[in-house]
Amino acid sequence: MQDLTPERFELDPIEVAPVEVIRGLQLHRLKWSLRHAYENVPHYRQAFDAAGVKPEDLRSLDDLRHFPFTAKADLRANYPFGMLAVPQAQLARIHASSGTTGKPTVVGYTKRDLATWAQMVGRCIRASGGRPGMKLHNAYGYGLFTGGLGYHDGATDFGLTVIPVSGGMTERQVQLIAEFEPDIITVTPSYLLAILDEFRRQGRDPRKTSLKVAILGAEPWTDAMRGEIEAAFGIHAVDTYGLSEVIGPGVANECVETKDGPHIWEDHFYPEVVNSDTGEPVAEGEPGELVFTSLTKEAMPIIRYRTRDLTRLMPGTARSMRRMARVTGRSDDMMIVRGVNVFPTQIEEQILKVMGLAPHYQIVLTRSGRMDEMEVMVEAADPEEGSALRARAQAELGHHIKSVIGVTARVTVLDPGGVARSEGKAKRVVDKRGQG
Ligand code: DLL
Repeated sequence: MQDLTPERFELDPIEVAPVEVIRGLQLHRLKWSLRHAYENVPHYRQAFDAAGVKPEDLRSLDDLRHFPFTAKADLRANYPFGMLAVPQAQLARIHASSGTTGKPTVVGYTKRDLATWAQMVGRCIRASGGRPGMKLHNAYGYGLFTGGLGYHDGATDFGLTVIPVSGGMTERQVQLIAEFEPDIITVTPSYLLAILDEFRRQGRDPRKTSLKVAILGAEPWTDAMRGEIEAAFGIHAVDTYGLSEVIGPGVANECVETKDGPHIWEDHFYPEVVNSDTGEPVAEGEPGELVFTSLTKEAMPIIRYRTRDLTRLMPGTARSMRRMARVTGRSDDMMIVRGVNVFPTQIEEQILKVMGLAPHYQIVLTRSGRMDEMEVMVEAADPEEGSALRARAQAELGHHIKSVIGVTARVTVLDPGGVARSEGKAKRVVDKRGQG
């Protein structure tokens, strides 16, 4: 794999500024953002008043803890445009997150917000090893989802050539990678695996592409999966994190030279980690729920947004800005199986330890009587694999899940292609416990 570490002079000075300088900038911007929200969004005025706080009560970054949280329910209650701090005529773009139940969550951007967003995504691309002049194959979905257009604008702004493929039509994805010879692919990790399958189906060697880097995010994935992808394509795989309510992709990104968790672009997004039950900030470095406050957003300032993503904050390494540990799951994705908390990523780690299994999986939860049953559907790596080998892999996976995670799972090894492929975010869990 090629060394793609950017030179220090290529970075934005703030990325490597002393931490005190970053804190000073954050305090200055936070004061503006709180005032902007309070003065222009009735929801924030009411919420601040109810909590007995005014923007001027923030004298230090630590004072942010006295301000009320914002939850997804607040965005829903103000659907579609109630959270906007500018007249609708000033919006340059609207995006929305799909929302598995009920109404989608709507987010808006001014022209300047779009410029900030593009700059932050450009920063992610540079951290991943991208350089102006490279070609980027963008397989994040275009449309209301923020992934496609977010990466599109960021790559354009940073001076790359964008190939706006979007998700789906996997056969063509492979053909375009082979013929247009991109340097970078932006895609969800689960969809990159589907693309990998298609390479093999077409008899093309995935290690012989022009690709150097995959910038992977929008869903949880593991270091084990990174190893799998890097080995299969012979490229760097880096983690990119973001969410629509905060801006979209472009909130945090790993550096290709360290691959030690995404650095949060703290000059625009202020992170906190809180205990999800009490809402109290946790001690530095402790795990909990990630909370974000926007520092510069005009159209839709967001104050103390509860992401539901579980992580912890760590000091900077390749950049001065803090890192977040890989998001192992959302609190909403946590399965409670016979009293044990389980995340799909924990199952993923165990699957990747077993020879003969492919990293495509889905977890099905059912209830028989009062007992939860967990079934892990996973694919054999090779259609020729005999039944004895499959039985061994099945037993081995069941054993790992029991001994490492502490739950009993029924493992079913399917033929290659047996688990539905995603073209964007994978659906890892099918919970049938509420039915029948
Ligand atoms: O998924 C934005 C995005 C697009 C990020 C492309 C990265 C690349 P939403 O659809 O609003 O926005 O979903 C946000 O996805 O709260 C996390 O739960 C999850 N997520 C995003 N990135 C990661 C990641 C986009 N790198 C939600 N690791 C977030 C784990 C992630 N989970």
